[in-house]
Amino acid sequence: MSCVGIDVYARRRARVLEALGEDAVLILPAAPEIVAGRDLELRYRPDPDLYYLTGYREPEAVLVLAPGREEGSFILFVRPRDPEKELWTGARGGPEAAVEWFRADAAYPLDELDDRLPGLIAGARVVHFPLGTGRDDVEALVLGVVAGARQSRQRTGRGPRALVDPGAILDEMRLRKDSHELELLREAGKITVEGFRAAAAAIRPGAGEWEIEAAIEGAFRRAGAEGTGFATIVGSGANATVLHYTDNARIMQAGELVLIDAGARHRMYNGDISRTFPVSGRFTPAQRDLYDAVLAAHDRAIEAVRPGATTADIHMAATRTLVEALVAFGILEGEVDGLIERKAHRPFYPHQTSHWLGLDVHDVGDYANDGEPRPLEPGMVLTVEPGLYLPVDCDRVPPELRGTGIRIEDDVAVTDDGHEILTVELPRSADEVEAMMRGNG
Ligand code: GLY
Ligand code: MN
Ligand code: MN
Repeated sequence: MSCVGIDVYARRRARVLEALGEDAVLILPAAPEIVAGRDLELRYRPDPDLYYLTGYREPEAVLVLAPGREEGSFILFVRPRDPEKELWTGARGGPEAAVEWFRADAAYPLDELDDRLPGLIAGARVVHFPLGTGRDDVEALVLGVVAGARQSRQRTGRGPRALVDPGAILDEMRLRKDSHELELLREAGKITVEGFRAAAAAIRPGAGEWEIEAAIEGAFRRAGAEGTGFATIVGSGANATVLHYTDNARIMQAGELVLIDAGARHRMYNGDISRTFPVSGRFTPAQRDLYDAVLAAHDRAIEAVRPGATTADIHMAATRTLVEALVAFGILEGEVDGLIERKAHRPFYPHQTSHWLGLDVHDVGDYANDGEPRPLEPGMVLTVEPGLYLPVDCDRVPPELRGTGIRIEDDVAVTDDGHEILTVELPRSADEVEAMMRGNG
């Protein structure tokens, strides 16, 4: 179990402060709590950016990084202590803990934001602030200061001239994981693997998809994970061809496949794995052929993960293999390059092969620079998740494979000389998957 010390956040803030320069200020508001119905708070998800720079998890906090200020450069506005509210929803640290535990140079209760934020912004020429995050109160305040400065600058010669998306600095930092993050992603991957082993043991004809969901999520929680990073997908039969099927409400039948896509959320970091199992414990010959085609695409795509390659290269490696298989199955007809160019595979493989993975499941960071796919670098973490989804109503699909969906997904870190599969412990070949279902593997 790794433990991210508070120094990690200080080092990240130091890098941001350097990138900001003297003339800038960065303001990051955490999302408010979501209330369901009249008065039930949903479980809060701390803001990934704010957490990345502070380790702070309480709702509604506002981080200000302001280089060269009298009160220090690291300022937090937080919910104040409130014994009445704490009785209902748990302890709050208040400004005291923000200073003592999180090492803010200064911390204030949130209701002082209106008075203090304008002063913190006024001296800066560039304001880094994310628009449209749902914190309309902070957004109105920031825009008000920037608009006011436009009017007064003629006389004062001071005030912000530019409003910039903090992603230009933060997304780039978060895209290259440091050693602490890689360790946490390994742990999230390991717990996710445990969940899939529990799922494999629970699959049988007659079981409800929800039972598999319960097995997998129970294993996540037993291992100490906070929960799931996204709604668990357990799609049996034709449900596997619905990419974001999350009802998990059907009873699995003998002879079908079941596609499971799930991820543990552990200390804010996410795992994201997909595997496809034969409900009866054995693939039919046709299912196995299709499975092997997706596995071949998965292998080629993972082989392509190395510094200098791009997510477009990885996608092409997977797509080419899948299109070759679709031709071999008689589902597509023609020459492979032309089929790929015409995107003839889209009805059967409509999604990309990879996304970044980290504090967000679909993590931050641009996939392209100026329209050109960006080269991978050591420390980047991505999924590799090819799949094939054969509709129930397509005449070209062999009858025994209509309504079949297969996806195989693993989490991969780019290393100096290639890659590390963070979820390597979970079997993926057809034989290994069958053995795992029998409890041998
Ligand atoms: N389950 C979300 C994803 O694989 O991207
Ligand atoms: Mn997934
Ligand atoms: Mn994924």
